[in-house]
Amino acid sequence: MESFASVLARQPEIDFTPRLSADHIAEFRERGFTAIERITSDEEIAWLGDLYDLLFGERTQPVPGGYFDLVRPYDSPGDDLQPQIIAPEVRFEELRRTAFWRNGKTVAAALLGVDASALRGWGHMILKPPRIGGSLPWHQDEGYWDPGFDYVALGCWMPLDPATVESGCMSFIPGSHRGEVRVHRHLDDDPTVHALVIDDIDASTAVPVPVAAGGAVFHHCRIVHSSGPNRSARVRRAYANEWQLEPAPRPTPASRPWIDAGKRAWEERGKPSHDKPSDG
Ligand code: NI
Repeated sequence: MESFASVLARQPEIDFTPRLSADHIAEFRERGFTAIERITSDEEIAWLGDLYDLLFGERTQPVPGGYFDLVRPYDSPGDDLQPQIIAPEVRFEELRRTAFWRNGKTVAAALLGVDASALRGWGHMILKPPRIGGSLPWHQDEGYWDPGFDYVALGCWMPLDPATVESGCMSFIPGSHRGEVRVHRHLDDDPTVHALVIDDIDASTAVPVPVAAGGAVFHHCRIVHSSGPNRSARVRRAYANEWQLEPAPRPTPASRPWIDAGKRAWEERGKPSHDKPSDG
């Protein structure tokens, strides 16, 4: 297999401008999500795919504990059903120099109505293996985050393979971003399982959003969303960057007991608590 150094050495320089219309902005504000057709070029997607395969092949932990299966207890034996790698850009600065990074930030600023220079970003990669790839239950990304802060944030999610209903594309509950953070619990009621669940969702209003490789879905940090299992014969690789303003401390932290339980489980994993990823 090719080495990290050799893949990094052939990073392509991509000049790609995504098309964002007033309709995209209106849709994001009204429904809480919008998809654009392309965020970068095929050449960059191929290069990112090579790096991605190496990262997962070596179960790389860019930050302590930064590789884990989202839907099984931490560090348990057996096949990963939905592994995630947190903050790959911490290990590979090159990931901050992609068109995907740059364009994601620009589009995020337009959708949120803020200055791009005020946005900070961090990434995560979620892989659904062929046929056994797990689903991710209904959640809000902010439901994973530190309840001591208020957020202005969105996720920019790009599949490296076609994301179809069969391969586990994302689904959204339109307009749900306007509410509060809902009550979550850990999947299987086990805090050593990272994934969170909201129970009282009317899935009949859900909108699945299939996206071609290199397209991108932008979603508000409070939109209720999920992704299906991968029933296809092909891997479904996704790479997402979260874009946010500096979080503002809340006068009184919100009560999110599932986060406290998750934090204890993370600490028992033997990782320093401040490294707990705030992904979703
Ligand atoms: Ni999410």
